Amino acid sequence: MNAEKYRPFVGVEMTDRKWPTRVQSKPPIWCSVDLRDGNQALPEPMSLDSKLAFFAELTRIGFKEIEVGFPSASQTEYDTVRALIEENLIPEDVTIQVLVQAREHLIDRTLDAIRGAKHVIVHLYSNTSPLHRRVVFGMDKKETLELAVKGARMIVEKTREIPGIRYEYSPESFSATEPEYSVEVLTRMLDAFEATEERPLILNLPTTTEICTPNRFADLVEYVWSRVPGRERAILSIHPHNDRGTGVADAEMACLAGAQRGEGTLFGNGERTGNVDIVTLALNLYTQGVDPGLDFSRMNDVKEVYETATGMRVHERSPYAGDLVFTAFSGSHQDAIRKGLAWRSREKEKIWEVPYLIVDPADLGREWEPIVRINSQSGKGGAAFVLQERYGFQLPRAMHPEFGLLVKKTADKAGAELSAEDVFRLFVREYLEVNAPYRLKSHEITETGGDGHSAVRFSGVIESDKEAHTISGEGNGPIDAFFSAMRGEHLTGFAFSSYHEHAISSGSDAKAAAYIELTYRGHGVFGVGLENNVSIASIKGVLCAVNRAINLYGE
Ligand code: KIV
Ligand code: ZN
Repeated sequence: MNAEKYRPFVGVEMTDRKWPTRVQSKPPIWCSVDLRDGNQALPEPMSLDSKLAFFAELTRIGFKEIEVGFPSASQTEYDTVRALIEENLIPEDVTIQVLVQAREHLIDRTLDAIRGAKHVIVHLYSNTSPLHRRVVFGMDKKETLELAVKGARMIVEKTREIPGIRYEYSPESFSATEPEYSVEVLTRMLDAFEATEERPLILNLPTTTEICTPNRFADLVEYVWSRVPGRERAILSIHPHNDRGTGVADAEMACLAGAQRGEGTLFGNGERTGNVDIVTLALNLYTQGVDPGLDFSRMNDVKEVYETATGMRVHERSPYAGDLVFTAFSGSHQDAIRKGLAWRSREKEKIWEVPYLIVDPADLGREWEPIVRINSQSGKGGAAFVLQERYGFQLPRAMHPEFGLLVKKTADKAGAELSAEDVFRLFVREYLEVNAPYRLKSHEITETGGDGHSAVRFSGVIESDKEAHTISGEGNGPIDAFFSAMRGEHLTGFAFSSYHEHAISSGSDAKAAAYIELTYRGHGVFGVGLENNVSIASIKGVLCAVNRAINLYGE
């Protein structure tokens, strides 16, 4: 490593910057460059069919401006533009955009590609940075500017007859270009493209390679934009890349600095580290209460189209979209999320405020399922949450530690995450299928009370070690009656601690779940009963607790 090899970015001197105290209250005009910048960056560029499928998805999301390609650069790009136009695949309110350099034969090929398009933006770019001027093109400032102006004039002359055509100009490597020179170039381009208030020129400022912190980029945008005369004839656009990993911050701060339009891609696909991720930008606005005008409520579908078309993968931790971004494994986080969700539904709260979740996953079409996942890091609340959300069992709070410990041990042993099904199977095995040492073979409950006081008699047959015992007992309710029947015949040392029950409906079949806690040899032990009849569910719950206690602590 040799830091001396590099030098710090030299920003513009500003004492009167306005952007830091502003708040973004409306979305920019979004322009997707997935089919151009994103496509140019793929090891295997998209096929025509993939591009058409991706285009359709972009329109479903709500993009109104879509850069569909660089038609002079490849046959597939050209064919895509033709297919979109000839097959009438462009919605009335969507404008397609095509990229071109300032060379006549490329411009001609591009204009040929857009024949018949109803709404189109021709996007001209040229590199203005000193490095490119010196190293790549061997041109000075004047020659560089003349080339851009010549390209703009050519485009305007050749498209004069096309109604509604619009233009965009990008000074490539804007962030590495001398600010005063940028002002000069942008000002000249407004005239070269004959921009008017009615037909403004899109002036698009890229961080072609991101070379400074987002605040310095915002400074640069505000500095240049405030010095371009005739701004009412322009729409200020930005096109951040992500080389330093701060493309989203570049875009957000540049919007505060005056940008009215933003170019980027889904999930940040694009050259090298990618373009700015529009999913993140849009949903960052959404979580501030600003409608971004893009619909990501079918996030899984969007991901699927993106991954199929590009062959890329959305990272598990990609904001808002990754598989793990709503998932809490840690016990304290799971507990806080569970409490937050319960509080919301209890209080009928409209504003979203749930610990650890900045957005309601349901708004993005994400299920509860990924929120709480279970591994050995998970706490007692996580497994209870899974049972409740997925299977309808509302374990009493006092039971959470007991079941949580069983889950933790199982996850530890497996050395892997447990699925919701795994958790449920464990619950069934530990509570609903405990048939030893005692099994209930038959039962009858009769009301015996009179004179205003309730009394119940339980009689039935209980089996243990292949022997059947007839038992009976009385109490002030079914549990009490069963308990006294069991205690009278076989059991000593059990005390009743707590009882909870609730209905569970699965389809048309409503059942009662009963949770019984007994104390045995100084330990609290839970049992669960699930039956159509609440009295029988309770009795089975008692029997389950008895069996589990004996299995754990001996007879
Ligand atoms: O990143 C860039 O500079 C570009 C331009 C062509 C707009 O993609
Ligand atoms: Zn780019």
